[in-house]
Amino acid sequence: MTSVSEICAAAPMIPVIVIKRLEDAVPLAKALVEGGLPVLEITLRTPVALDAIRAIKDACPDAIVGAGTLRGAHDVEATMEAGSVFGVSPGSPAELIEAVKRANLPFLPGSATPTEAMELADQGFEVLKFFPAEAAGGVPMLKSMSSPLPDVKFCPTGGVSLDNARNYLALPNVVTVGGSWVAPDKLVEAGDFAAITKLAKEAVAALKG
Ligand code: 3PG
Repeated sequence: MTSVSEICAAAPMIPVIVIKRLEDAVPLAKALVEGGLPVLEITLRTPVALDAIRAIKDACPDAIVGAGTLRGAHDVEATMEAGSVFGVSPGSPAELIEAVKRANLPFLPGSATPTEAMELADQGFEVLKFFPAEAAGGVPMLKSMSSPLPDVKFCPTGGVSLDNARNYLALPNVVTVGGSWVAPDKLVEAGDFAAITKLAKEAVAALKG
């Protein structure tokens, strides 16, 4: 099983994806992978999310497919059954953390405060989703945490864009970022997957190494 650190090292950003129509899942995933973004977070926010994960797993062997917005133990089970290789959550409720540990699922738990970060690091989580990044203090907040908690690494998400992602990635405690800007609803609904590949390439060019 690939570790969370390895997954985060595989791309400078993780697209946060909301699939509304199942038929969009595979072309969207292919467009992002073609653009250089293989790590995909499919959020469990729509009824077709689990089927979307299954479809992408079948059709896109180069994609590293995970599930986002995990809320409880039932999500952990369902998402692993669908083939997700990692999970992400905006928070870290105890029931969810226990389920993730039982299942041994590579996982980015959500954290917005130093206390949450310390507790999750103590429990062995290598990388935390700093959420909601911009609203919770953004770059200055993470910068402040890097001195007392240098071992705790983050993937900031929530309000991250091409404009501010580089500032996050310049911090020593940020390993990658997450965001929905590379898969905007408007382009997905219009079936303009070529434009999505272009957005992905633009992100890779601006953010890599
Ligand atoms: C998430 O689920 O992580 C956020 O909703 C993504 O935030 P963004 O849409 O501001 O990128």
